[in-house]
Amino acid sequence: MPAETSAALPIEYDTVHQAADGQRDALVDELVHRGSQIVDDIDSLIFTRDVPGPAAWAQNTWLAPREYRVDSIGDAARRLTSIQRNWHLHSIAHHRRARLIADKLPPIRFKPLEFPAFVPSAPLGSFALLDRDRLLASPVCSSAFADGHPIFAEDRTGPPNRAYLKLWEALTLARRRPGPGDVCLELGASPGGWTWVLDRLGAEIIAVDRADLAPQIMASTRVTTWRGDAFGVTVDDLERPPDWILSDVIAYPSRLLDLADYWCHACPHAAVIITVKCQGMVDPAEISRFLDIKNARLCHLAANKHELTFFRLPEGGPPEAVFRGPDPH
Ligand SMILES: C[S@@+](CC[C@H](N)C(=O)[O-])C[C@H]1O[C@@H](n2cnc3c(N)ncnc32)[C@H](O)[C@@H]1O
Repeated sequence: MPAETSAALPIEYDTVHQAADGQRDALVDELVHRGSQIVDDIDSLIFTRDVPGPAAWAQNTWLAPREYRVDSIGDAARRLTSIQRNWHLHSIAHHRRARLIADKLPPIRFKPLEFPAFVPSAPLGSFALLDRDRLLASPVCSSAFADGHPIFAEDRTGPPNRAYLKLWEALTLARRRPGPGDVCLELGASPGGWTWVLDRLGAEIIAVDRADLAPQIMASTRVTTWRGDAFGVTVDDLERPPDWILSDVIAYPSRLLDLADYWCHACPHAAVIITVKCQGMVDPAEISRFLDIKNARLCHLAANKHELTFFRLPEGGPPEAVFRGPDPH
């Protein structure tokens, strides 16, 4: 048995979910709905057992948590480095002591991502102090980014708003992106942050919105604008089935579920990315219906507020996202 597991303390949970900012209630409801047993919760961390794997409203899920008794700051740092090199402190208690442990760990060189970017392949663990002498550490997390937040080198002049960051993040996690020769149907495109991203990637875009796009976005020869109701567009309106369907339309989840269902079935080979906007209380049963769509995944992007991002990608989709695993029965 490896040293780190032999020294681990007995624990009653198998997973720790780190709630996305302001989304703790939605995360708890999701976990209860999927049958996870909530064993404990401390600050933004929800400790569960019985249903392993990421949760949609978690910004990061700690997939292999262990607890260790540690005698000193040096002992804690040695324990972590004996497991792996890269760790991120998500401090929930004994903050100064936890920081001193983090300072003893090998440094991680941080450079904002230049889009198009790759998800780092080196594993990044998360740790916290639960008590002065009790270390919680998970070498395996759902996200390769610290606290599930990729940081991009922003473009403050090109795009008409900051929504482009959401699509940068979604395409980075998708590990694929449209390019020259691809047709993208973009629903709810105004003022054009996402269109700007797609245009810069060289794709052809049909941008649908009731409102106009920013003039500099409409000026591109690759952008065709359709003024009207995004929910009225069908595959028959297009010259050929699109390679990508992207939606950032603001609507109730039930309408967005119908939209996702329609386009996933109408274009079975297309990549589909849809923002699932949620108003107020989230109905976990309704959200879980998105996962009834074959190969669907849901996750909370760092750039998402009270909303999730739906993916249906030809190769399966982001491993960071929750999906309906095969039924064990
Ligand atoms: C969050 S904004 C989209 C921002 C866009 N992704 C960007 O990057 O600039 C939502 C857009 O959906 C549009 N919208 C809402 N309902 C719509 C509908 N039924 N048909 C077409 N557009 C709609 C709104 O006009 C608004 O421009």
